[in-house]
Amino acid sequence: MFIAESLKAYVAQKSGLAQDAFSMFASERPAFGDFSTNAAFVLAQERNTSPFLVAEDLKRELEEDGQVQSMVERLEVKNGYINFFLSPEFAAQALRQVTKPEKRTAQETVLVEYSSPNIGKTLSIAHIRSTIIGDALARIYKFLGYRVITDSHIGDWGMLAGKLIAAYKLFARKPVAKLTIRDMQDLYVRFTMDEKEKPEYTQMAKKETVKLQREEKDSIRMWQALARNSIKEFDRLYRRLGILKFTYQHGESHYRRYTEAVVPDCVKKGYARQSEGSMIIDLDKAGLPPMLIQKSDEGFLYATSDLATIIEREETIKPNRVLYVVANEQALHFEQLFAAARTCGLAQGIDLVHVKFGMILGQDKKKLSTRQGRTVLLEEVLDEAIKKAESIAQQKNPELSAQEIQTIARLIGIASVKYNDLSQNRNTDIVFDWSKMLSLDGNSAPYALYTYARLANIARKAHAKARALGVRDLSRLERQEFELAKRAAAFKDTVRQAAQENLPNLIANYLYDLAARSNAWYEQYPVLSAPAEARRARLGLAQSVCAVLKTGLGLLGIPVLEKI
Ligand code: ARG
Repeated sequence: MFIAESLKAYVAQKSGLAQDAFSMFASERPAFGDFSTNAAFVLAQERNTSPFLVAEDLKRELEEDGQVQSMVERLEVKNGYINFFLSPEFAAQALRQVTKPEKRTAQETVLVEYSSPNIGKTLSIAHIRSTIIGDALARIYKFLGYRVITDSHIGDWGMLAGKLIAAYKLFARKPVAKLTIRDMQDLYVRFTMDEKEKPEYTQMAKKETVKLQREEKDSIRMWQALARNSIKEFDRLYRRLGILKFTYQHGESHYRRYTEAVVPDCVKKGYARQSEGSMIIDLDKAGLPPMLIQKSDEGFLYATSDLATIIEREETIKPNRVLYVVANEQALHFEQLFAAARTCGLAQGIDLVHVKFGMILGQDKKKLSTRQGRTVLLEEVLDEAIKKAESIAQQKNPELSAQEIQTIARLIGIASVKYNDLSQNRNTDIVFDWSKMLSLDGNSAPYALYTYARLANIARKAHAKARALGVRDLSRLERQEFELAKRAAAFKDTVRQAAQENLPNLIANYLYDLAARSNAWYEQYPVLSAPAEARRARLGLAQSVCAVLKTGLGLLGIPVLEKI
C-alpha cells in the first residue's frame, strides 16, 4: 500500500483530473501536513481561475467523502496546496505493511545492468559507483514487486581481448591458466606503452582479434582462461562488497552472433549506410551525430555490440525497462544507442534508461588518485575505510575483543563507502571525505547504524515482542511522537519515488531524517520508565522505526548490527 497513491485516487475522483496530471508528495514539514497535493493549481489552470478558490472547493468535497474522512484527521489549504493530516487509523494501516515487500503482481520486468568491468583489469574506483548504485536499484525494484534481472555487461571481446592475447604471447612467462588479474594488467600496460613505438604490436592485436572472432581453438582457449580468471577476481570483490548475486555476467562475447548480424541486417533494411569506408546509422532526426557501427579495419565496435545486446535481450528476457548504470562520460553513447535502436525499430515498448552518475573526487576536489598519481583501486578504498572504522569501533566499545572489533569495523567501513555514494544525488560528482563518511553525527552510515542499534537496544531491554503500532497505541502517543510514527509510515512511498527517479539518495535522505527525528524523540520521551500504556506505545514506536531503518538500509545494501 502506498499512502500517496491512495490519497491521489480520491483527489482524482473529486477533481476529475487524471492521476498523472498532478502530484501528491510527502510534506517537508509537519506544518504542511503529512502529504500535499498541487491538484488545485492544475485544475485552476484548466478552468482559468484562481487556485485558492479551487483548493477550497476541492477540500470541501474531499471532506464530505466518508472514505477520506477515515484516512485523514483533517485537511488544510495553504498557499493553494491541499495538505493532508493522516488519521491514526490510516497511519496504523500503512505501518502494518510498511516494511513488507510488495507482492509481485504486475510482473513487470526490470533489467538492471551494472558494474560491467573489463577483463584483464581489476575493479577501479570508477566501477564502484556503478556497482553500488546498481545493486541498490536492483534491491529497490525487487522490494516494489518487480521481476528483476541483473547483468554485469563485462567487456570481454573485440580488440581488448585481442590485445590481451597478443600481450600474453609477447611477454608472459606463465601458463595462461595461472595468470592473475594483476599479471594481466601488467601485461596490458606494457603492451599499450610499447605499442606507441611498435605499430607491429597493433597489427598483431588485430590479427588476434580476428582469430578470436573466427573462434580458432587456441584463441578461444586462451581467451576463456583470461575471462575466467578475471571474473574470479570480480566475484571476490563483489563478495567483499556484499552485493547481490548477478543473474547474469554475460559479457559482450555472449552477444557475438547477434553482433555479427547487426551490420548486414541494418544495411539490408536500409537503416545504415556507408560513409568514408565505415558503416553508420544516421541520427539527424534525433539531433545527434551518426552512430558508427563498423570501421573498415575492425570487426567489432562497442556500439554495435550494444545494439546486438538490445536485440538479444528483447528476444530472451523481454524486459519492460532496462537500466544502464554507467558513468556520465558515456552519456552521448547511450543517447546515440537509444536513438539508433528506435531508428531500427528495436526495443519498442521497452523503456531504455541511462542511469548516469558523476565521478568520485578526492578531498582536493580532483579525480581520486594515489600519491603517485595512479587511479585508486576499489580494494584500497575498502581497506582504508575498514582501518578507519576500526578506530571508531574501538573508541565506542573498549570492552570488545579484537575479533569483535574487526567484524564491526568491516561492516561499518563498507557501509560507509556505500552510504557515502548512495546518499548523494548520483548525477553529481561526489567527494571522498573520510571524516564525513565516518562521522557519528551526520548524514552517514555510522550515524544510521548507531541510531538503529540504540533503538533496538531499548526493545531488547524491555524483552518486547516485535509488533506494529496499532491505532490505540498511536492515539496514546503525544503529538510529536505521532509525527514520528507517520514519518515511518511514509517509508514505502519514499521507496517508490526513489524507483521512479532511479535515485537511491531519496531513501538515504529519508532514513537520515527519520534517524534524526527518532534520536530527538528518544532524548525527550522516556520509554522504559513511562506508565504502562505509554510505555507499550513507545516501545512499538521504537520497533517500527527500527524496522524501517533496517529495511531501508537493506535496500541500500547495508546490513545492520544489533549491537555496536
Ligand atoms: N565495460 C564498459 C566500461 O568499463 C562499461 C559497459 C557499460 N554497458 C554497456 N552496455 N555499454 O567502460
